[in-house]
Amino acid sequence: MNNLILCGFMGCGKTTLGKKLAGHFGRELIDTDSEIVKREGKSIADIFATYGEPYFRRLETELIKEFSARENLIISLGGGLAANTDNHPYLKAAGKVILLDCGIDETLNRIMGDNSRPLTKGGKEDIINRYNLRKPIYEAVADVIIDSAKSEEKTFLTTLSAIEELL
Ligand code: S3P
Repeated sequence: MNNLILCGFMGCGKTTLGKKLAGHFGRELIDTDSEIVKREGKSIADIFATYGEPYFRRLETELIKEFSARENLIISLGGGLAANTDNHPYLKAAGKVILLDCGIDETLNRIMGDNSRPLTKGGKEDIINRYNLRKPIYEAVADVIIDSAKSEEKTFLTTLSAIEELL
């Protein structure tokens, strides 16, 4: 399929860039977190607290299976979706996977103390460990890696050039 999929760790800028790309290409944007919140009628924090993380991960897998069969979408993934290798075949089938990475220092600046994200509760060490553990898993599924540490506009323009090469 010809979808453009944005993946990467929490805070890397997937949601913001997804909106810009959807506007630019006139494509529908699917944000997996927003889609899950809409369908469940609960915030991500409430879903984790009520049903546990494995339940949330199953919803993510069902969603990516569903959307990998559609076309012309910009799909912005929750940070854990591409960290699960079981989802990689669906991501590959869905389209081109663009990994955003702003580096660990900028990641910490952006997400430390954010209570809406259940996985930031473990604090700095936990975030660093999770980032390091996931990085190679994201890289394994990515068609291209974009440095997203700079301004939103710079990240957008760099991604547009990368997409021209990919398509
Ligand atoms: C998660 C990232 C979040 C959200 C959930 C779990 C993760 O999405 O899906 O809190 O495991 O990295 P963002 O990457 O949009 O913050």
